[in-house]
Amino acid sequence: MTASRNEDFNYRLWRYDGAPGELIPLLQSAQDHFGYIPRRAISYISEVTGVPESEVYGVITFYSQFRLQPMGKYVIKACDGTACHVQNSRTIIDTLEDELGVEVNGTTGDGLFTLQTVACLGCCSLAPVLMINDDTHGKLTPQSVRKLVREYRRREESARREDASCARA
Ligand code: FES
Repeated sequence: MTASRNEDFNYRLWRYDGAPGELIPLLQSAQDHFGYIPRRAISYISEVTGVPESEVYGVITFYSQFRLQPMGKYVIKACDGTACHVQNSRTIIDTLEDELGVEVNGTTGDGLFTLQTVACLGCCSLAPVLMINDDTHGKLTPQSVRKLVREYRRREESARREDASCARA
């Protein structure tokens, strides 16, 4: 993390004066700093602000922008905008949840995938669409979506095996 982000987080904590709305920017800067809001940041914020941890936690879980887990290596943004919705995006999202074993906004246990939904990816003619990091995939079906996720898993697995054999050599 950059020094300025670190300073921003600490600066916000330092100038916190107890105004109710201030917890949100504080949590935002913690998330910018860590990439998510770890347990230790909740304790730290609670200690400095005097807001009980359970309350801080309540605010975090209320707003979908906040994450309690780090993002996966691959962020899947499944579109659920109008054009995608009429092309059955809900089924695509259900399939993703099933294939990944997480709900929307969740991250797989191996830290590989985070599943999110978005309102429009700007390529409605390809509906239903998703993005995995910077790559767009369109005209999806439940079958193609499972295949896609398995391809990413397979690629990761073989990269891991290559790394392991390099380390042994
Ligand atoms: S609604 Fe899905 S890309 Fe536009």
